[in-house]
Amino acid sequence: MIGEKKSLFSGMQATGNLTLGNYLGALRNWVTLNEEYECFYCVVDEHSITIRQDPAVLRKRARALLTLYIAAGLDPEKNCIYYQSHVSAHAELAWILNCFTYMGELNRMTQFKDKAAKHADNINAGLFTYPVLMAADILLFQADVVPVGIDQMQHLEITRDIAQRFNGIYGDVFTIPEAYLGKVGAKIMSLQDPTKKMSKSDENANASIYLMDDPDTVMRKCKRAVTDSEAQILYRDEQPGVKNLLDIYCACTGKTADEAVKEFDGKGYGELKTAVGESVVAVLKPLQDEVARLEKDKAYIDNAIKTNAEKANYAATKTLRKVQKKVGFPERIR
Ligand code: TRP
Repeated sequence: MIGEKKSLFSGMQATGNLTLGNYLGALRNWVTLNEEYECFYCVVDEHSITIRQDPAVLRKRARALLTLYIAAGLDPEKNCIYYQSHVSAHAELAWILNCFTYMGELNRMTQFKDKAAKHADNINAGLFTYPVLMAADILLFQADVVPVGIDQMQHLEITRDIAQRFNGIYGDVFTIPEAYLGKVGAKIMSLQDPTKKMSKSDENANASIYLMDDPDTVMRKCKRAVTDSEAQILYRDEQPGVKNLLDIYCACTGKTADEAVKEFDGKGYGELKTAVGESVVAVLKPLQDEVARLEKDKAYIDNAIKTNAEKANYAATKTLRKVQKKVGFPERIR
């Protein structure tokens, strides 16, 4: 809880390009959450350096992600959209929580095992304690709910374990966060393998539509989407490629699956793919135009960065001071 409202926290890394799946399944649905929750959306640049980054690229991508949040409709007056590195309480709380987290717990994290295997030349301590920094993110803001994908559930679990352990020793310091299971958006699958989720790290460039893909690229990827040889447009699990195209079409147009199936009755896959491509362009084009407009309005974005970092700092420091006192750090003299 922060003030009157329940609090919501989510973080995203600025590495990798966001996909249509990220937008339709998550970002787009966050726009109205600020009515019910005090919302914090953090660009987690400190997490990003657990993998080696080019500094100029990281800086640019972090700003692009923050701009994208705003372009997607998250009003920076009503949502706190900020960089993790601008709020030093993240790193400070992470240190304290490191001392309440066991090596054995961290050793079980599947994401650590995956990333360590992928980056065998740089298995650094930050990569190992990544979930502790994530716990600090969430707990600093006393988050009641955390919208996360299934791949982050294990990290949310360890966050709850750390919070409960700390509360068990020191009393009710942290809110125990839950996964946000509100209205979930469409689950969009890969265009090349419709049994797999559309992912920003897919090796096959044709598998994912990126939010910044231009209309020609979107159309080309849709036309190359894998379907089947049934030659009928029905919404059913036996035709995962066609089903995914219909899901995308429905998410972009607001139509129901029944309506879409009627509309395409007797038509071929070529027509379906063209219609899907056009519906995606109709959603992405205004978003891209808004990003372009905001990128030119440097003063507006800079102001959002400054004021939101102050808001985030205020809320985070409040929790941090409480924790510092609990563990026995000396009082500050004013
Ligand atoms: N680890 C998350 C991811 O890669 C990003 C993240 C960092 C996060 N801190 C968070 C997500 C706090 C939710 C809450 O997707």
